[in-house]
Amino acid sequence: MPTRTVTSVIGGRPAADTPAGRVRSTNPAHLDEVVAEVALGDASQFAAAAQAARAAQQAWADVPAPVRGRAIAHIGRLIEDNKEALSALVTREIGKPYAESLGEVQEIIDTCDFFLGEGRRLYGQTVPSEMPDKQLFTFRNPVGTVAVITAGNFPVAVPSWYIVPALLCGNTVVWKPAEYSAAASAAFHELFCRGGGLPDGVFNVVHADGPATFAGLEQALDAGLIDKVGFTGSSEVGARIGEVTGRHLQSACLELGGKNPMVVTPNADIDLAVEGALFAGFGTAGQRCTSLGTVICHESIRDEFLSRFAAATAAAKVGDPFQDVLYGPMLDAKFAERFEKFLGWVSPRHTVLGSTGTGRITAANPREGFVGDPEAGIFYHPTIVDGVRPGDEIFDQETFGPLVGVTTYQTMDEAIELSNAPGYGLSSSIYTNDAKEAFKYRRGVSAGMLSVNNSTSGAEAHLPFGGNGKSGNGSRQSGLWVLDQFTRWQALNWDYSGKLQKAQMDVVELTPDSDFRLA
Ligand code: UN1
Repeated sequence: MPTRTVTSVIGGRPAADTPAGRVRSTNPAHLDEVVAEVALGDASQFAAAAQAARAAQQAWADVPAPVRGRAIAHIGRLIEDNKEALSALVTREIGKPYAESLGEVQEIIDTCDFFLGEGRRLYGQTVPSEMPDKQLFTFRNPVGTVAVITAGNFPVAVPSWYIVPALLCGNTVVWKPAEYSAAASAAFHELFCRGGGLPDGVFNVVHADGPATFAGLEQALDAGLIDKVGFTGSSEVGARIGEVTGRHLQSACLELGGKNPMVVTPNADIDLAVEGALFAGFGTAGQRCTSLGTVICHESIRDEFLSRFAAATAAAKVGDPFQDVLYGPMLDAKFAERFEKFLGWVSPRHTVLGSTGTGRITAANPREGFVGDPEAGIFYHPTIVDGVRPGDEIFDQETFGPLVGVTTYQTMDEAIELSNAPGYGLSSSIYTNDAKEAFKYRRGVSAGMLSVNNSTSGAEAHLPFGGNGKSGNGSRQSGLWVLDQFTRWQALNWDYSGKLQKAQMDVVELTPDSDFRLA
């Protein structure tokens, strides 16, 4: 497989200089395979991209919305025609199982399908006035230039949740993808620019590390070049983005971490719950923001659930992501390092289940039934940690990787309290066949998203996606809801009476007969 060279693209031109050097993006299932050489930009390259986006914005907003919708339609079609190639690149670069990569690329197509029609809608309202010969209207205006900073666990689907509606609404974009998914990002960018026939400067991409991006974003905000920031990543960085955008009186669209609970009630279908926990906990090697954090199991069925969950986990296929496996490697070496730290939180009070070992899978620390050569990449044993409680780091913190905690509850109020205790609020799930229980949980759980009898992960692309607490600032992506992120409402009142009619003062009042009673 060839190594690609990836550079920033600003105003339609590949950046010629490499002010911050080069990094390699490697295949985490075959570490000796370099997928891309990535030329990194610095803060001023980010600011230059914001400048290019600013320069292109008015002309892009002047393109009629239905024509922008057609551009989204063409992009969706081109992605559909390149689905296998883009999915294979995602699997090579971040090690997501190929079937999941196909699903990820489908999520871009679904997003394009949803928004292509929005070009012909993007409705405003006509509203009656309280005075005659006057009419009220609302319009959606583009926000302006948008900076999008995304993680690499969903290197193409999650960016599309921001970029598709942002472009459709008439904004221009500067996108900073993750360095470890640069090749997939470059392919995505090329498909968008070519498929959409986007004018130069409408969609710019900057490859840079975190500190350079942050400095560039601050510069661009100070210079008035960025009007909206979309960020997917850690709660810690999200708070810093919220701070810097807040200083510029902007509210960022933040999609942050999660410690997503799954409640298993006494009347749940236990096999279904096990299937859901297996996929939610270990699919994508537990590296989704929607991955299962803790199973909160009713004490009466805990033994039954745990033994079936441990057996299913032990039997699951782990290994080569191009084969039929539950999960492949960690996304990148830095995630493996962090995961080692999370494993260090397991204490003697906990019981570990689910595999033939813990930690990195190697010849000396094998996983039974491993598919392929574990030493070629960075693969980790699935780890179930039973007996976690509030106050344990494993219970309280996000543990991005193949690790699921298990705890028990006695009453539904306690299950709700345990679900909310870590302070995140992205996704959640409950397995029950009792509607009263499901709706009580819905009301109590702090999460922005809830599944009943389904996994915490796997949100569909046209429901509001987002969280509360440490998972975000209440912003929502996807579907109709994201339009409020990328447009601003403008209210228009038009008086054609030829005189000044004062609101609230020059309003006719009818005279009711308030004393009337039926005989
Ligand atoms: C993420 O991990 O940032 O709901 C997004 C899901 C996917 C998206 C996850 N559709 O699991």
